Amino acid sequence: MKITFAKPETTSKGIVVVTANAGNKLSPSAKILDVETGGALVRAIRASRFEGKKTQTLNIIAPEHTKLDRIMIVGLGKSTDITNIEMQNLGGRIYAATKQAKNGLVSIVLDTVAGSKLNSNEMAAEIGYGAKLRSYSFLKYKTQIKADQKVAIKTVKITCDNIVSARKIYNKLSKVAEGVFFTRDLVSEPPNILYPETLAKEAKTLEKIGIKVQILGESQMRRLGMGALLGVGQGSVRESKLVVMQWNGGSKSKSSKPIAFVGKGVTFDTGGISIKPSSGMEDMKWDMGGSAVVIGLMKALAGRKAKVNAVGVVALVENMPDGNAQRPGDIVTSMSGQTIEVLNTDAEGRLILADALHYTNEKFKPKFMVNLATLTGAIIVSLGSHHAGLFSNNDQLSDRLTQAGLDVEERLWRLPISDDYDKMINSQVADMQNIGGRGAGSITAAQFLHRFVGKTPWAHLDIAGVTWSKSDKPTIPRGGTAFGVRLLDRLVENHYEG
Ligand code: BES
Ligand code: MN
Ligand code: ZN
Repeated sequence: MKITFAKPETTSKGIVVVTANAGNKLSPSAKILDVETGGALVRAIRASRFEGKKTQTLNIIAPEHTKLDRIMIVGLGKSTDITNIEMQNLGGRIYAATKQAKNGLVSIVLDTVAGSKLNSNEMAAEIGYGAKLRSYSFLKYKTQIKADQKVAIKTVKITCDNIVSARKIYNKLSKVAEGVFFTRDLVSEPPNILYPETLAKEAKTLEKIGIKVQILGESQMRRLGMGALLGVGQGSVRESKLVVMQWNGGSKSKSSKPIAFVGKGVTFDTGGISIKPSSGMEDMKWDMGGSAVVIGLMKALAGRKAKVNAVGVVALVENMPDGNAQRPGDIVTSMSGQTIEVLNTDAEGRLILADALHYTNEKFKPKFMVNLATLTGAIIVSLGSHHAGLFSNNDQLSDRLTQAGLDVEERLWRLPISDDYDKMINSQVADMQNIGGRGAGSITAAQFLHRFVGKTPWAHLDIAGVTWSKSDKPTIPRGGTAFGVRLLDRLVENHYEG
């Protein structure tokens, strides 16, 4: 499906989408179409509940002489409802409502709305971005798709006042969409195909867009002393990997510190010897969601040539039960020197992140670190799928993340960390244990990570509830959501460029 921008012109093919504001105020283009159709739009509105509210749509069979198939009126709501996000959602909804259109062409006709923060070019770009995001699908393993199940729509053409301006905004957004799609692809791959080595290879492909990619294997990690990470992978026949990605689009000065993103990449989490119940275990293929977000984010930043120096580190392991697997009761020594009593082999994400965070902090001395992980089932109990959990040792970073989340509708909710919760992971025999007691499961997991970040500003996003969606959203078809890519791209854009 192609997204194109055009000057207003008379269209006489396919579906035409025009807009109305709250109170059924037809746009100038809609009024012209109404006249051309002998008042078909106004009559259809009068015969319906359509009021021009946002999210409302009205479909009209086009009169014969127009040669059009269908006219769709979409509500924009009040002029203050016209925000970037609302326009993206509108684009996504229009895509979903027209993707089976046989003529293959949808033309969306936009006029600048008085009193709106966005002009018609900005609206056009955001609608195009939303349509693009919604058009994602993962059909690689479907060999029997029938012609009538395929998407029919070939072109979404959006008309606005200034094509050059719309295209310029859209091109930048589409780079972010490409990062989102990469993440969704990785999360959707099955675990027999995507395992540490093959996931590392996918990250390596980012070299062609100017990212430096380094892959560490088990022997290198052993030399670095990453006993916590290696313990998790030791029951798997697949070799564990640590991938380090660097995008240097910012200042060349040696004294300027990079920003860093760290991802949990458990390509499959059986739980290990503390094995999970079989029902629903297939969901654990997306336990590498945090790493996929970091990889997709790097792609987005490099794709849009962000003026920032960013490091992405992903810890890739497979958590399997095996004769050589880690046992409950084992004590491992992390790269930081701190020892960990592994009481539950299913609390593995924090173990691999402990070494990845420490490594990132030591090696890059970053301005801040944000890690993402499908870390706990408990965060789903707390927040469901409408917010990800946010834990941080730094109020400024935390506030900036929260605001970026509101900007892109990937919402975060901050939960506390404190000494009292920290004590819950003290061990009798080692420096700490990898699970707390009863209660506060997401917080004790965060406290564990906190012990590996030193004094560096740090935030942990627990994305277990938001990485996969069981239902369609306007810009997110069901499946992998890539939650975090747009959020962190926005964080960078808001505060860390230039
Ligand atoms: N990957 C899981 C967390 C998870 C659960 C993500 C459900 C998505 C959906 C994690 O490794 C895990 O198993 N956590 C345990 C921790 C417990 C053993 C302290 C959990 O949440 O049950
Ligand atoms: Mn687990
Ligand atoms: Zn896990």
